[in-house]
Amino acid sequence: MCGIVGILGRGPVADQIVDSLKRLEYRGYDSAGVATLEGAHIDRRRAEGKLKNLEAKLGKSPLAGHIGIGHTRWATHGKPTEANAHPHAAEGVAVVHNGIIENFRELRIELEKGGAKFVSETDTEIVAHLVSSYLQKGASPIDAVKQSLPRLKGAFALAFLFKDHDNLMIGARKGSPLAVGYGDGEMYLGSDAIALAPFTDDISYLEDGDWVVLTRKGCEIHDESGNIVKRDVLKSGASAFMVDKANYRHFMAKEIHEQPEVVGHTLARYVDMASERVALPMKLPFDFKDVQRISITACGTASYAGFIAKYWFERFARVPVEIDVASEFRYREAPVRKGDLAIFISQSGETADTLAALRYAKQQGMHTLAVVNVTTSTIARESETVMPTLAGPEIGVASTKAFTCQLMALATLALAAGKARGELSDADEAKLVQALVKVPRLMADALTHEAAIEKLARDIAKSKDVLYLGRGTSYPLALEGALKLKEISYIHAEGYAAGELKHGPIALIDETIPVVVIAPYDRVFDKTVSNMQEVAARGGNIILMTDAKGAEEATVDSMVTIVMPDMDSAFTPLVYAIPVQLLAYHTAVVMGTDVDQPRNLAKSVTVE
Ligand code: F6R
Repeated sequence: MCGIVGILGRGPVADQIVDSLKRLEYRGYDSAGVATLEGAHIDRRRAEGKLKNLEAKLGKSPLAGHIGIGHTRWATHGKPTEANAHPHAAEGVAVVHNGIIENFRELRIELEKGGAKFVSETDTEIVAHLVSSYLQKGASPIDAVKQSLPRLKGAFALAFLFKDHDNLMIGARKGSPLAVGYGDGEMYLGSDAIALAPFTDDISYLEDGDWVVLTRKGCEIHDESGNIVKRDVLKSGASAFMVDKANYRHFMAKEIHEQPEVVGHTLARYVDMASERVALPMKLPFDFKDVQRISITACGTASYAGFIAKYWFERFARVPVEIDVASEFRYREAPVRKGDLAIFISQSGETADTLAALRYAKQQGMHTLAVVNVTTSTIARESETVMPTLAGPEIGVASTKAFTCQLMALATLALAAGKARGELSDADEAKLVQALVKVPRLMADALTHEAAIEKLARDIAKSKDVLYLGRGTSYPLALEGALKLKEISYIHAEGYAAGELKHGPIALIDETIPVVVIAPYDRVFDKTVSNMQEVAARGGNIILMTDAKGAEEATVDSMVTIVMPDMDSAFTPLVYAIPVQLLAYHTAVVMGTDVDQPRNLAKSVTVE
């Protein structure tokens, strides 16, 4: 995952920037770079590969500037070459960037028409040229950034350095994290407190939409509407431990908020955004054309990611999928076909049942593919093919960001299968990849509902039972919602396919039961709404998670609606996971449970 560092120092900053980038190595990267202001102009050193390559370049040709920005890049648009490494520069400005600029194509065409010459394949270079175009029209650096930010669509963090301005740096945050560090006559920007730990413990985390103007004396933070705002200055303590909670009360909250960023990184690993194609970085030891059936096996939340993926594989690749919880698959002596594909999904990569199921599948001669977060784990080592999720360390016992990263990896695999089996055309693929590219931004939009969900959680916390309903891919998400709520708040919850309600669970409905209905406006929306009416008619209190169109169409009494952004109906679970997780989280906070380490649960379940 990309890392950002910026320093307004009192002496040369290049070495300090590299030291700080080293602390961000844990995020993963494949090229790096630094830019400083040398006299009046910006100079850069960039290198492919690890930081030692950048250090070697700086050793041969040092940078002496007292203000600078640095970056570790995890390739998204374009290969990990020196030309694609950050900082990117255009006349008057250099920029480092973490995240995705969705509308880079349109902006590039526009800027090229205006005479901009691009030298990289990245979306980041567009930002440099866009800001530069305003500078060239006479805007000040602050105005140039102010005019550029609303034109950028996506989830990202940025840091800018300007020619002729030795005491000015600008940072911006929308969807990807960025922190300001306060020093003694020095100021800093960093992707997280860990990057800033060598310099300062005094940190402000920017909120979504914030942008900040830094000088050596301090900073001025603006919100998305341009108002000057104050953000708390916290003692980070990050020097003491590598993984911190940032300014969140729990790891789970932090991990929920990290999703736009880490899901974006997982996406970038498996698609080529520039060509809008799925581009798996690993060679598959089988041909999807020869696979007659896919078996997906996992436990808990990971199994619900697999259940959602079943819908995707069946729809996009027209291949039948069996989904099993691992503790059943391993003992039920499932008849499987040699040469078919078995997929295992696990955050920890150590879950005993999933590992045993993997070993069984191998014995039966199946091809094995593991979607794992911990790439050094046993499941990763023992699988024929590994698809890492780039969620980063997940500390909260309840899985959140690992789940959505699993979904993202599986979505790209389902598209690859559809392509290989001739079920998806190039145009279908491009359309679906475009829809996936929007997901990180839409997740950031979904997070803006937190205050409303927190309020709702106070009512949920008074309940003894909660039902979750959904159809299609929203059905496994309903199962996940119920699991999330019960495991951290200890309130009993069940998930059902909305159409199953009338076959039993409807007997439970009365005015004491909240019913969470997950129903984006898709082809089964009307059917779900009918089921919702059945609940309303029996006095059930409905919490509807839908989009604007759904909210307009579905009106019943006793309903609270959480309106999600409009999006391609194929991938709604990735975005609707956010309100589902937030509802469980805030309910648990109200209940006063140990959110990050709920009773009786372990993060890695290595026993049967
Ligand atoms: C629920 C949760 C568990 C895990 C399950 C599998 O929030 O975290 O249900 O999903 O124990 O764990 P992994 O993914 O490590 O195999």
